[in-house]
Amino acid sequence: SEVVIAADAEEAGALAAGIIGRLVQDDPAAVLGVATGSTPLPLYRALATLGLDFRGVTAFALDEYVGLPPGHAESYRQVIEREVVGPLGLDPTRVHVPNGDPEELAHAGSDYEAAIALAGGVDVQILGIGTDGHIGFNEPGSSLASPTRVKTLTPETRADNARFFDSIDDVPMHCVTQGIGTILRARHLILLAFGEAKASALAAAVEGPVTASVPASAIQLHPRVTVIVDEAAAAQLE
Ligand code: F6R
Repeated sequence: SEVVIAADAEEAGALAAGIIGRLVQDDPAAVLGVATGSTPLPLYRALATLGLDFRGVTAFALDEYVGLPPGHAESYRQVIEREVVGPLGLDPTRVHVPNGDPEELAHAGSDYEAAIALAGGVDVQILGIGTDGHIGFNEPGSSLASPTRVKTLTPETRADNARFFDSIDDVPMHCVTQGIGTILRARHLILLAFGEAKASALAAAVEGPVTASVPASAIQLHPRVTVIVDEAAAAQLE
């Protein structure tokens, strides 16, 4: 994989936007895998300045919380609408987010896998990384072959994401996430990481052994990975 150390998150976002912009220019019907959280926001902002036509693009979110009321501002459906669909001008009917409705969990994973397959797979998957080494919400111990399914969030992830909620008690316990197997089927992975809080997880992911204890280390199994980080996140790379 290629590791690019950018000066800061803005430059990293612009570099990633360049890759995705070229893809969409070449293929206006490209399929993007989109992440939520703070990390991809500079990328989405940079992408919106390129003036490309995203109306034919299909997007698949990585994950969704289980049990937030429909329309909750921090549901990933809403975050994707706000940060991606609106600014880029995607067609909402081509935007997919796993179904976190507690009544629908029995088939949420298989439905999502079927939708990705029907779209012909993901061309470029954008990834962040958790401080505990997760990608998507595949927490440590996740099978490296896992499909989209329900997972339990670790206390560390719930604490990290409490900033988006009024209190940590409001952070859902469960999620539906693309599996590591799902993520590895995307044709190109772009992993972004910013800040010193990500440095140890990033080093373990890029340079450590491939292990379910560090789910992000599975990217080493993929033939086409671009890692774009700032200097703080790169601090523990050899
Ligand atoms: C988001 C996701 C997570 C985040 C990770 C980092 O859809 O699947 O893996 O990418 O938790 O979150 P931030 O970017 O907020 O530090």
